Amino acid sequence: MSKLFVSEHPLIHTKMAMLRSKETGTKEFREIIGEVASLLFYEATRELPLTEVAVQTPIAATICKTIDTKLAVVPILRAGIGMTDGILNLVPTAKIGHIGLYRDEVTLEPVEYYCKLPADVEERTVFLVDPMLATGGSADAAIGFLKARGVKKIIFLCILAAPNGVERLQKNHPDVDIYAAAHDGKLNENGYIVPGLGDAGDRIFGTK
Ligand code: PRP
Ligand code: URA
Repeated sequence: MSKLFVSEHPLIHTKMAMLRSKETGTKEFREIIGEVASLLFYEATRELPLTEVAVQTPIAATICKTIDTKLAVVPILRAGIGMTDGILNLVPTAKIGHIGLYRDEVTLEPVEYYCKLPADVEERTVFLVDPMLATGGSADAAIGFLKARGVKKIIFLCILAAPNGVERLQKNHPDVDIYAAAHDGKLNENGYIVPGLGDAGDRIFGTK
């Protein structure tokens, strides 16, 4: 079964309190989503392979280590875009793909409307990002697209995970580790995470 990592870091707890508050406005919400994405990416990259490189410091020659895999960041549109810059600040050479999905409000099933991935995506370690893992339908479908394109290493990052989504991903994609800033207890009758933070896309983009 895949790993579920849920952060207990004090910085993330503090920022999650701000994200959850309905008093937090669009500008601040968007900034904090980016910050939490950076902190989570730091945790999720801990086990990436390293290679040795020769470096000449101003004082002496030495051997250093650098990440030994090509990376891609793939946000699930649209809310995943809110996490992308925070991650690219740390790995500016990563390529970016986009998968467009929205959740049908009645069936809660994902509807695909866009998919554009780096040409060599199958050679990359892909960080799939979406703030919310609720029923898991969107992430499940997005991982399916990546696998159909030949991607072998996928890591899923979300801000909030719910049990239904975690269970679905662990059942359908036991090879994909999940990193979450927080894990909430349940979904309500509309498929929203409780207590959650509301509609991530609307809060990032100010559409409601
Ligand atoms: C939200 C969220 C996820 C999805 C999670 O997107 O950003 O993509 O719901 O729910 P699930 O786990 O039940 O699939 P939404 O469909 O609202 O689209 P948006 O990003 O365009 O707002
Ligand atoms: N999508 C959201 O944006 N929020 C939820 O709570 C569930 C799905």
